[in-house]
Amino acid sequence: MDRYEQVTELARRRGFMWPAFELYGGAAGFYDYGPLGAQLKRRIEDAWRGFFVIREGFAEIEAPTIGIEDIFKASGHLSGFSDPLTECKECKEIYRADHLIKHIIEVPDALSDEEIYQVFQDNDIFCPECGGDLSTVYEFNLMFKTAIGPGNKHAGYLRPETAQGMFINYPRLLRYFRGALPFGAVQIGKSYRNEISPRQGVIRLREFTQAEAEVFIDPRDKTHPRFDEVKDIVMRLYSQAGQERGEVEEMTVGEAVEKGIIAHQTLAYYVARTYQFLQAVGVARDRLRFRQHKADEMAHYAADCWDAEVLLDRLGWIELVGVADRTDYDLKSHMALSQARLTVFVNYDQPVRREKLVIKPDMKSLGPRFKGQAKAIAEALKSLDMKELKGEGPIAVQVDGETVEVERELVSFEMVEEEIRGEELVPHVIEPSFGIDRILYTVLEHSYYEEMVEEEPRIVLRLLPRMTPVDVAVLPLMDRPELTAPAREILEALRSAGYLTDYDTSGSIGRRYRRNDEIGTPYCVTVDYETIEQGTVTIRDRDSMRQVKVKKEDLLGTVSGLLCCTQRFEDAGVAVSP
Ligand code: ATP
Ligand code: GLY
Repeated sequence: MDRYEQVTELARRRGFMWPAFELYGGAAGFYDYGPLGAQLKRRIEDAWRGFFVIREGFAEIEAPTIGIEDIFKASGHLSGFSDPLTECKECKEIYRADHLIKHIIEVPDALSDEEIYQVFQDNDIFCPECGGDLSTVYEFNLMFKTAIGPGNKHAGYLRPETAQGMFINYPRLLRYFRGALPFGAVQIGKSYRNEISPRQGVIRLREFTQAEAEVFIDPRDKTHPRFDEVKDIVMRLYSQAGQERGEVEEMTVGEAVEKGIIAHQTLAYYVARTYQFLQAVGVARDRLRFRQHKADEMAHYAADCWDAEVLLDRLGWIELVGVADRTDYDLKSHMALSQARLTVFVNYDQPVRREKLVIKPDMKSLGPRFKGQAKAIAEALKSLDMKELKGEGPIAVQVDGETVEVERELVSFEMVEEEIRGEELVPHVIEPSFGIDRILYTVLEHSYYEEMVEEEPRIVLRLLPRMTPVDVAVLPLMDRPELTAPAREILEALRSAGYLTDYDTSGSIGRRYRRNDEIGTPYCVTVDYETIEQGTVTIRDRDSMRQVKVKKEDLLGTVSGLLCCTQRFEDAGVAVSP
């Protein structure tokens, strides 16, 4: 069994996750999260909220998961959101064409359909199932289409990314943030892609969870006010140039921006926050790198993009997060289709003074000439562009839907100085886009250890404290009322204090410890006869398997200290007897 199989076997057996619709034989690309998986997923999402909603001050919204056609017409998904497909001419099996050449071409996304087909031919690539010839490659749109309401009048699409919810709500979000840049809005929710051939568990799903932030910034200034907080972080970067040389470089975030490897501070800031977040939830630092998209690999909306990639045992380097500079692509596209103004007024640091030629209607002449219409005509004249006033002859203006001609000698021109405080701009958007399911799988794989303890194999998930589906397990030594009664009291106290708990009385205490090791429970509290006689309970540490006794009344304080630090008794100030 390789690590992928070990992790998926454990996940299925212990209730983290399993293929959906099992009762009816399943359907590729859909997974259920069981009790432990749903809890772990919630913890990853909450940690993400901690980083982006609480620490960055972004606003979380919730938009529909079905979108109307116009959204995806404007966003470009309708015409361009596709993957290359090939079909076996013999057994009719369908494949994602670029995935069949991953072992030959490092970044096959950058190739055209014709180029992929050429690689098939040059390298004798046949159907992996039956060895048959593969068809030419063509693009398959990944959006799920549906109909809104009865009949087929209104097409709807299951959203392929949560991002569009933020773009189309831009005017309301701008108002919420009192009309000023920068600001960020986020969504954590389901996205749907009709993936061609999903065969990698939760790494490639047809329904999956994204956590995305859209950060609206001033396009003229891509520095970041908190850049100093991240500039000394050292990361492994696999830049476009590095990929040409086959070289991953270690450098600080500050250096990467100085050398122009990461285009600007704001993009680098979110790459760095992504790096911190992934480690905070349990992704291993030594199996994490950031890879820059090649120019011809970039999504249709992106000017620059860095993927957080992790090394997985069977699957190799896999993207968990994309951090992209989406520029003003989406807002401009929505502005063009909807005719709404998706701009912001930005003040200059100093107002600019400028001379301007203005038109001065002569009211003394316009009054007698046009009587009751004179005022409206004067206003219409003032609103004319200077270009419209060029030429000879009368000036035509529109008043109450009618064209009125005004003799040129009834107006004069004057040079005035005006003060310009700022300008209307379309913001640029920086987007960190996280795939929660892929992160969850990675956290499981990177936390999975198998070791021999007293000649018995022990599986342990070394998940970080507060990132486990269970914080504390309460285990009465035996299933007897004199032990289960105090154990239940302890359980209630832990639950009231907000901890995720498990209560287990079945099997030997050793087996119960192993069961908890397997699901990553950092601490087990054992209630035994000393609890009755001396008022103490035993706390067992998952990683070292060491045990300490504490007074029952000190348990909550001890657990709180242990869970908020580094999972070691000494670090939390817990006395360990030799
Ligand atoms: P890939 O190249 O692996 O298909 P992508 O480039 O299409 O991924 P993005 O469009 O950048 O991915 O989506 C942002 C994030 O959403 C990804 O980093 C990934 O974590 C997640 N994601 C995308 N597609 C899937 C999927 N089919 N199943 C699970 N997660 C996904
Ligand atoms: N929002 C980025 C993506 O899902 O492609």
